[in-house]
Amino acid sequence: MELYSGKIAFFYDLFFEHIKEDEYFYEYFIKLNDGPALEIGSGTGRLLIPYLRSGLRVSGVEPSAQMIEICNQKAEKINLHPTVYQQFLQDLDIQEQYKTIYMPLFVFQNIIKREDAIKALNKVYKYLLPEGQVLISTYFPWNDPTGTYDQTWRINAIREIEGSTTVLSESISFDKFEQIQTKYFKFESFKNNKLEESFIVPAHLRFYSRFELEGMLESAGFKDIQVYGDYTFYEASSNSNALIFTAKKA
Ligand SMILES: C[S@@+](CC[C@H](N)C(=O)[O-])C[C@H]1O[C@@H](n2cnc3c(N)ncnc32)[C@H](O)[C@@H]1O
Repeated sequence: MELYSGKIAFFYDLFFEHIKEDEYFYEYFIKLNDGPALEIGSGTGRLLIPYLRSGLRVSGVEPSAQMIEICNQKAEKINLHPTVYQQFLQDLDIQEQYKTIYMPLFVFQNIIKREDAIKALNKVYKYLLPEGQVLISTYFPWNDPTGTYDQTWRINAIREIEGSTTVLSESISFDKFEQIQTKYFKFESFKNNKLEESFIVPAHLRFYSRFELEGMLESAGFKDIQVYGDYTFYEASSNSNALIFTAKKA
C-alpha cells in the first residue's frame, strides 16, 4: 500500500489532523508576503482549510487522489471549494505563480530521489512571483543519527472511532550513508478486543544538514536564506527539532 493513499488517507486525519504548532507560522508569512500562496503536499487540508476559511488565497498541490477527496469533502461541509492540483511538485505544470510557497510537515524530505529534490526546488523557483518566498520545514534525527535504532515497534497513538480501536505503532531504520530514514507505520484495528485489520506502510524521509539544504537553495537561484527553529520566529539553534528554511526568489 502506498503512503498517503487508500486507507492511510483516512487514518491520516485520525492521527495527525490535530497538529497545530505550525499553523500560525505559515499564516504569518502568507500575510506578510501579501499575495496568493501554494501549499505543497496539501493532504487532507489540515492547513489549507483553516487558511481558506480565514480568507487567505491559498491553493494546494497533492499527488494522492484520496487525500484530495477527503480535503474536498471536509471543505464542502463549510462551503469551501479549494483548488488542489493533483501533481507531484517535481513535475509541477500549472499556470499560476505565487508570493508564498510553503512545504509543511517535512514534505520536501518525502522526495527521495536527489534529482527529484533538485527538480522540485527548481519548480518552486519557477512558480514563485518575483520576491516571492519559499518555506521548507525539515527535521533531523538528532537523537540517533548513527543508525543504532533497535527496530522494535513502539506505540505512537491509540484512537477510538465507530466502536473500533486503532493502534498506530512505529519502527524506524536509518541508512546513514544514503541519509534516508524509513519509518514503518503499523495500523492495527481492534473490535471487541479482536484484531480485525492490520497493515504496515513504510515512509521514507531523506535528511538534509543545514548547510546542504542552504547550498541546494543557492544553486536553485534563491537568496536571503534564513533558518528558523521550531515554528518560532527565532533563528534555529542546536536545540531546535524542526528547522524551517525560508528563501526568496532573486
Ligand atoms: C505529512 S503529509 C502533510 C499533509 C498536510 N500538508 C498537512 O500538513 O497536514 C505530506 C503530504 O505530501 C504529499 N506529497 C508527498 N510527496 C509529494 C511530492 N513529491 N509533491 C507534492 N506532494 C507530495 C503526500 O501525498 C502527503 O499528502
